[in-house]
Amino acid sequence: DVCESKEKIAIVGSGLIGQFWAMIFSSGGHKVTIYDIYPEQVSKALQNIAANLALYEKQGCLRGQINAEQQTCLISGSNDLQECLKGAVYVQECVPESADLKRKVFEQMDPFITSEMVVATSSSCIGVSQFVGGMANKHRTLVAHPVNPPYFVPLVEIVPGPWTLPEVTAKTRALLEAVGQSPVTLSKEVPGFALNRIQYSIINECWNMYKDGLLSAADIDKVMVDGLGPRYAFIGPLETMHLNADGIVDYCKRYAQGAYSVCSTFTPPPIMYDVPTAERVLEEMQATIPLEKVADRRKWRDQRLAALAALKTQLKEK
Ligand code: NAI
Repeated sequence: DVCESKEKIAIVGSGLIGQFWAMIFSSGGHKVTIYDIYPEQVSKALQNIAANLALYEKQGCLRGQINAEQQTCLISGSNDLQECLKGAVYVQECVPESADLKRKVFEQMDPFITSEMVVATSSSCIGVSQFVGGMANKHRTLVAHPVNPPYFVPLVEIVPGPWTLPEVTAKTRALLEAVGQSPVTLSKEVPGFALNRIQYSIINECWNMYKDGLLSAADIDKVMVDGLGPRYAFIGPLETMHLNADGIVDYCKRYAQGAYSVCSTFTPPPIMYDVPTAERVLEEMQATIPLEKVADRRKWRDQRLAALAALKTQLKEK
């Protein structure tokens, strides 16, 4: 039976991220039910998913041990929230990023949450503490924040709220690892979680250097793409320190003073709604990626990320 499956997963909100989660869980052999407030969106999502899984199979980047047809067969849609959640062990909420909307959706789910269930939000910035406070089952909720496109960039940030049970955090991490994602667990909520805190510190310095006229926008991006980026695809900044001396303690002894002198020249965070600077960057970007080509360039990015993911899997197997 091609529809034989592992525990059921519910996806609430079937836009871009909801569709990716459905494909990730079905690749792991789970039965998946997707729901959306708009029934036509559920149909559209099921069509997109079937087409994408077939395409990934053709391109050789399909995840999991079963074929695209079997994975597609594991995913169904529902126009009823209760039915979507029924029998699920894990719910991944993927509605738009608004605390008020998420509160509404979590309160609608609350009566259907069982003691077997974990309810995760895909939220990029909003911690669960901002919207689950009034729920009976708030201790079964947490953030599981993916990175776009989650099918090819495996990191998931798990961020428990103040009430989250440790077993809920542990179960989420184990489930995500089992389907091939790469979860990290924060001990508590902080603004920006981990990824955006690090990302914003990089963007801030890029913005300041551009404003100071130190490098062109293209050269700033090149520092990442041809410098830090290739290294960071395999080892993180802390391991880099460890490898660039006789261990990290030696690195600190040798380089901490110099690094501190550089960092002392950093200025406070720039305000990025500074439109004139953004317009100057845009003018430079337009030369290579005019606005009408942005969608094509996104497709190109996803293909490159798929190729990198395949390379990393291949290297891991060796
Ligand atoms: P989207 O706009 O593509 O999809 C949202 C879906 O939720 C739509 O299909 C919409 O019809 C549905 N929806 C709206 N109200 C609903 C309700 N009351 N009940 C059920 N469904 C409802 O948004 P996207 O990009 O998929 O984002 C979803 C979440 O994932 C957001 O919290 C976002 O911050 C997060 N996220 C997004 C990333 C991205 O790059 N787009 C990356 C990581 C996380």
